Amino acid sequence: MTVATWPVAELHVHIEGTLETELLVALARRNNVELPSYDPDALRELYRFTDLQSFLDIYYANLAVLRTEADFYDLGMAYLTRASAAGVRRAEIFFDPQTHLANGIPLDVVFGGLSRALGDARVTLGISADLILCFLRHLGGAAALATLDAAIPYLDQFIGVGLDSAEVGFPPSLFTEVFARAEALGLHRVAHAGEEGGPDYVHEALDLLGVERVDHGIRALEDPRLVEILRERQIPLTVCPLSNVCLRATPSLGAHPLPAMLAAGLLVTISSDDPAYFGGYVDDNLTALQGEFGLDHEQMATLARNSFRAAFLPEAEKRRHLAAVDEHLEALLRLTSGA
Ligand code: ADE
Ligand code: ZN
Repeated sequence: MTVATWPVAELHVHIEGTLETELLVALARRNNVELPSYDPDALRELYRFTDLQSFLDIYYANLAVLRTEADFYDLGMAYLTRASAAGVRRAEIFFDPQTHLANGIPLDVVFGGLSRALGDARVTLGISADLILCFLRHLGGAAALATLDAAIPYLDQFIGVGLDSAEVGFPPSLFTEVFARAEALGLHRVAHAGEEGGPDYVHEALDLLGVERVDHGIRALEDPRLVEILRERQIPLTVCPLSNVCLRATPSLGAHPLPAMLAAGLLVTISSDDPAYFGGYVDDNLTALQGEFGLDHEQMATLARNSFRAAFLPEAEKRRHLAAVDEHLEALLRLTSGA
């Protein structure tokens, strides 16, 4: 970790999207799963996306290599090790149980491997991490309800629910019942909205699903009334700039709405989404933004503070993390002033 590595919370990362091609090949060999190539670089070359669906097609296909509890453990541990080096002190990690169930993998295997990795990382890396169970919106509301029911025996192993996969055509309104049930179970609620879908999807996520955070939300800027609601309520938006560029949600990093979102007073946090596919982890996203927009130390500290403010953590723990951000900022300012 370098002096440029800010302490942060990563609030928008899909564990399946952290499957680096080296581990993909190792797991394919371990489990006798066929891949288009066994050369990690050649596989990475295939990652040229035109939109969200073109990414999801490859991403779901690759997940056929995850078969055993050890596979899920290795995936979780690899991410947490890399995240720790990226300055991540707290990770709230999405996972897609429906993908694995469709591949014939029982929930017990998925939770077993991931939860063991989170527990070990807490001890060996000092990183705090929890799981958020995501529903695949393209499978609809009834399948989401069945998934939540099936996950009830594992309620002590996840802290919330989310909504991901293909956005357009699958609005939040399809998932009101499952989110109401999740709320009744005492779970946190987040949803992808305003990534490819319009501001109406963000309104629905807030009004119909009662989400506490919006994942992406970049298209919210198209609706000034929505911006006012998000600003007023300080609803966190977990923004993933390198993902947005790779999936062409924004034409370039320079055209990314992050500066406008910050200027509008929105509570924006920076995350990596699917770092194995989009060219970088949270530190890479922060570094890219800093380079593109010339963010100063104070602005970087705001992004780091926002990540802890938006985390699902007790206030005392947030204060401890916020103090670490302040310390980091002071150290950087001392360094640049030559004191
Ligand atoms: N699943 C993994 N990454 C995703 C993204 N960026 N949007 C929607 N679903 C996803
Ligand atoms: Zn995402």
